[in-house]
Amino acid sequence: MHILETVWLGAAAAKVLTQACINKACSAKRVTISNPPVNLWDANVIEEFNTFMHSLNNQNETKVVVFDSDTADFWAAHIDLNLFQPDAIPGRNSSALFETYYENLDLLLTTPVIFIGEVNGRAWGAGDEHLLRMDMRFAGPHAQFGAPEAAVGLIHVGALQQLVRLIGPGRASEYMLAAAQVSGHEAARVGWVNSVHPSAEALRNHVDSVATRISLFPVETLRATKASIAEQAPSKSILDNDRARFNQLAAIPQVQQNVEDIIRLSKNQSRSWELNNNDNIVRYLY
Ligand SMILES: *[C@@H]1O[C@H](CO)[C@@H](O)[C@H](O)[C@H]1NC(C)=O
Ligand SMILES: *[C@@H]1O[C@H](CO)[C@@H](O)[C@H](O)[C@H]1NC(C)=O
Ligand SMILES: *[C@@H]1O[C@H](CO)[C@@H](O)[C@H](O)[C@H]1NC(C)=O
Repeated sequence: MHILETVWLGAAAAKVLTQACINKACSAKRVTISNPPVNLWDANVIEEFNTFMHSLNNQNETKVVVFDSDTADFWAAHIDLNLFQPDAIPGRNSSALFETYYENLDLLLTTPVIFIGEVNGRAWGAGDEHLLRMDMRFAGPHAQFGAPEAAVGLIHVGALQQLVRLIGPGRASEYMLAAAQVSGHEAARVGWVNSVHPSAEALRNHVDSVATRISLFPVETLRATKASIAEQAPSKSILDNDRARFNQLAAIPQVQQNVEDIIRLSKNQSRSWELNNNDNIVRYLY
């Protein structure tokens, strides 16, 4: 098992992504997100994810990457709301960090590697944005999906377009506008994920077998297939439009107040709050 190194604020930060091989050739890999207690998408995750994505450039060995989590009940939560506060990271430029965040979303579409999300916990906000930009998604019995953004006053900037393509505008409207929490079964029924499996083990077996089988085939073929499917993807200029919408909303004083209130009400994004993040925002903010 290789372990990625990262450094944040000059200090050795906790490693939040670990890698393991799925097959003998290691052409199929598993990357485990480990940022307990809730796998918050914080500065460390953004930076380390970026390092990992760049490690996949100019190489022919890795064909398939599966992203899973070893944090109970969470695949990946939303972005660390503290990053929206002024002076979020002393000595660091947080707008540069947001550029890295969006670069990561873009790299999931453009890196010639097949990305699979294996989800058996919550995928909220930023977690769901990354998940929806992967090539496919599979759920276990404890998976839940959702975008809290509408309840905060924002939009699910990095994944709205992908969700519309996957589940259609009517369903995307319902889930996005209502900041719904969606179970694995419902997600599989509507197409948010490819399929749902009855246990963590069944999920793992299915994902391993898909990843192992794909990785038998020529890398050029996998890349051409991904590129062909990407012909139907929303253009980058549409993401730019959504970023402009997001930034306009984020500048509204009421939205900034909502972010502050949620940090306070949630006791700084505590685990008990995050388990039902969207529903708690609706219940305690409104
Ligand atoms: C990967 O394979 C291509 C041929 O398909 C070759 O041109 C390229 O140099 C290889 N890259 C590396 C880093 O080995
Ligand atoms: C912060 O980063 C942004 C985007 O990378 C850049 O445009 C801006 O000049 C930076 N600001 C400072 C004070 O370094
Ligand atoms: C709130 O949580 C964030 C993310 O875990 C952490 O970086 C920050 O130090 C915490 N702030 C306070 C005031 O506890």
